Amino acid sequence: MRIALIGASGQLGSDLLPCLQAAGHDVDPMRHADIEITDKDNVAAVLEPLRPDLVINAAAYNLVDKAEDELITAMTVNGTGPLILAELCEAYNWRLMHISTDYVFGWSPVPPSRPWTELDRADSSGRYAITKRTGEQFVQEKCSQHFVVRTCGLYGLAALRGTGKGNFVETMLRLGRERKQLRVVDDQRCTPTSTADLADALVKLIATDAFGLYHATNSGSMTWCEFAREIFRLAKMDVEVIPITTAEFGAKAKRPAYSVLDCSKLASVIGGPLPDWHDALARYLTSRPT
Ligand SMILES: NC(=O)c1ccc[n+]([C@@H]2O[C@H](COP(=O)([O-])OP(=O)(O)OC[C@H]3O[C@@H](n4cnc5c(N)ncnc54)[C@H](OP(=O)(O)O)[C@@H]3O)[C@@H](O)[C@H]2O)c1
Repeated sequence: MRIALIGASGQLGSDLLPCLQAAGHDVDPMRHADIEITDKDNVAAVLEPLRPDLVINAAAYNLVDKAEDELITAMTVNGTGPLILAELCEAYNWRLMHISTDYVFGWSPVPPSRPWTELDRADSSGRYAITKRTGEQFVQEKCSQHFVVRTCGLYGLAALRGTGKGNFVETMLRLGRERKQLRVVDDQRCTPTSTADLADALVKLIATDAFGLYHATNSGSMTWCEFAREIFRLAKMDVEVIPITTAEFGAKAKRPAYSVLDCSKLASVIGGPLPDWHDALARYLTSRPT
């Protein structure tokens, strides 16, 4: 398949590129310097000559706290960008894969008793979440051959290659080298996911015609505090992790208390679930250059 990969130098994009190539696809990797998804004329000028079978949009505005102050910028990248891509893909009968987030869920004060499925109603209320939900809806409404894939808390090696913006694992390792004690939020439950594992799953999904909405994270769930403790245990670092509440941490944007995703729909389409989060984290730590 000929594939235009947008956001190719981001965390997910940079792991997706070699996976797609290894699967035999002819990939045009596009960094931000190569395409501006918020500019309709630019998108058409870049993509039309390529005539891709599939466009993958791994580009986004991901600064959750900053989005509280930069709603228009966030909405333009996360809402207008996907709309432009969806309309162009529909016009040419191209497939479109768009990546979204677990943050569309979990804002209600009463957590559900089970992970969120694709049939559950999104209840986004933070500004970042609203922009991502808007992008999902545009893709679903405007492009008939779409895959919309929600994932969570990505970490990948792009952070170390100098192309990504960093991730929670790297932040913990850095802070753990500087301090003996860290305070980490323990009242948000979700499933941070390795971009290497997500990329593998996405390559399997695009080999199907099973268009639609999917949840895709590593298996299991944890709080950020539990995740931090496992990072230090595996990295053999003696750091005490003290649980705190979201309110005590005091980030500008609210976060969902419970955004664990039920990924069984994806598992049934690609032949199994993504690996357990402990296993994913262990492989990530082993694969880091020392
Ligand atoms: N990171 C997470 O924890 C997380 C969690 C859930 C879902 N997701 C979703 O997963 C997807 C991939 O995330 P990621 O962490 O890989 O993102 P990332 O590392 O921030 O990469 C995004 C890429 O998109 C590019 N980009 C930004 N605005 C653009 C624009 N207007 N036109 C073209 N390119 C643009 C960025 O380039 P510049 O940096 O040069 O602007 C960057 O290379 C996104 O849809 C994101 O919302 C991420």
